[in-house]
Amino acid sequence: MPTTVRQRRSFQEQNELLRQLNQRVVGQSRALEQIVPYVQMFQAELSPEGRPAGVFLLLGPTGTGKTRTVEALAEVLHGSPRNVLKIDCGEFQMEHEVAKLIGAPPGYLGHRETTPMLTQQKLGAVASERSGLALVLFDEIEKAAPSMTRLLLGVLDKAVLRLGDNSTVNFERALIFLTSNLGAREMRKEIAPDFGFEAMVPPQCAPAKLSAIGMGAVKRKFAPEFVNRIDAVITYRPLETASLRRIVDQQIEELERHIENRLEDRAFDLFVTDGAREFLLREGTSPEYGARELKRAILRHLTQPLAAMVAEGKIMAGATVKVEEDGGRLEIRIED
Ligand SMILES: Nc1ncnc2c1ncn2[C@@H]1O[C@H](COP(=O)(O)OP(=O)(O)OP(=O)(O)O)[C@@H](O)[C@H]1O
Ligand SMILES: [Mg+2]
Repeated sequence: MPTTVRQRRSFQEQNELLRQLNQRVVGQSRALEQIVPYVQMFQAELSPEGRPAGVFLLLGPTGTGKTRTVEALAEVLHGSPRNVLKIDCGEFQMEHEVAKLIGAPPGYLGHRETTPMLTQQKLGAVASERSGLALVLFDEIEKAAPSMTRLLLGVLDKAVLRLGDNSTVNFERALIFLTSNLGAREMRKEIAPDFGFEAMVPPQCAPAKLSAIGMGAVKRKFAPEFVNRIDAVITYRPLETASLRRIVDQQIEELERHIENRLEDRAFDLFVTDGAREFLLREGTSPEYGARELKRAILRHLTQPLAAMVAEGKIMAGATVKVEEDGGRLEIRIED
């Protein structure tokens, strides 16, 4: 069947949003493709009424881009990765802590002191002039007390949360992301049985197998009515070496921009050799932790030594600074 002009335009827009997300979240296009249609339904004002604009459960190994996805979406939609209302479910493991979320009922001890974490105003504060879509992230959902899961059920079902003071918060203009480590340990065994270096995933079989592991764990932990209200359960894949290399490049570029923006007319050029990049790859990434440690490795091996040299007046404005691997560490030299 031929596509209409309108359909083609919609594909193009989808590609643009997808392209921007793929630029920021490396190697997870399958996950991103499942999220984008819900953003577009919202943008087209065609999201179903009486429920959140989208509900996603993100599963999969640590350091593979789950949280990064939500931040990237915030960047694209609102211009800042901070435009996310994040609830750490680990803080709500005990029943009494759930009051922090919704506030205590009037007359209860502590009523005045507890401003609920989830209010209509807080939801509005993470939207922006660019987009009215609020991004809400419930991190590590499996840690929450059962009463919180019950509250959440109402949010997923009707897009309404009733607060302690009996007012309500509407989530129709929100995308809800739940993340969980359910099945993560089993997935890790599947990915790197012996944690040997370069024990990378057999690429073809892994994704389906990991999804099945994740789904099994989710069904054991959550009631069917909870699982049924999720629009998509998305399992992130372990990152392949090529993706990890791109993330290293991405973060070095980010450091270059940071130097440029912060130092302005005192800025210098950074030239990081392939050998130095491989060093950072080895130090900052692993099958076990994905790219989780990479920022720290770059900070320790690159940003901090550079900062020391700048502070000591060793790097002049406009200099070219070359970074090489040398005997198991990074050597920083100023080219003349
Ligand atoms: N796919 C990716 N693309 C780009 N950067 C990534 C990706 N995955 C991880 N990173 C880098 O690693 C850091 C940690 O990733 P992120 O917070 O998304 O992990 P996660 O999947 O949420 O893990 P966890 O289950 O431990 O919460 C990010 O801030 C980012 O710097
Ligand atoms: Mg995370």
